[in-house]
Amino acid sequence: MNRLILLAVAPLLAIALVAPANADALADRQALMKDQGKTVGSITPIIKGEKPFDADAVKAALVHLNEDAQKIDVATLFPAGSDQGKTTVSPKIWEDNAGFVAAVAKYQKDAAAAAEANPTDLDSFKVVFNQVAENCASCHKAFRIKKD
Ligand code: HEC
Repeated sequence: MNRLILLAVAPLLAIALVAPANADALADRQALMKDQGKTVGSITPIIKGEKPFDADAVKAALVHLNEDAQKIDVATLFPAGSDQGKTTVSPKIWEDNAGFVAAVAKYQKDAAAAAEANPTDLDSFKVVFNQVAENCASCHKAFRIKKD
């Protein structure tokens, strides 16, 4: 019985021992990611042609996406040991931390460029948007695990 309790508590102790500087890293990064998902969701109908192209709405979304992108600080939001709990992070984030940092940097560069671009119609918007969105997909593929 005692052994069972110990087994159950051990992971919690491990978390406590490597308590990251930012204890809310998990909640913070998921909130940030969710916000990005919301922003993308707000412009998806335009991409799909379900809503007319709206230069102001598109610009606002791209600027907001970039603001979120620039907030991704790997050391703060993905500290070692923050892979416990309700999360879909892949251990690869820490096994290949340089690769993850590079993926974040590329995303930030593409998001900054998109925020500067002023697409004037659906076609130019699609080009700009795809350049940003491919980062979401490729990073999730490499650094996230599927959980249902
Ligand atoms: C450099 C890597 C990277 C990029 C770029 C990236 N993400 Fe993520 N995203 C992650 C990781 C890692 C997680 C898992 C976080 C967790 O569960 O702790 C995640 C999780 C998410 C989630 C789920 C959040 C939750 O509540 O569990 C959403 C939604 C999301 N991302 C949307 C996006 C969108 C939209 C983009 C692009 C505009 C994007 N992400 C770009 C790495 C990335």
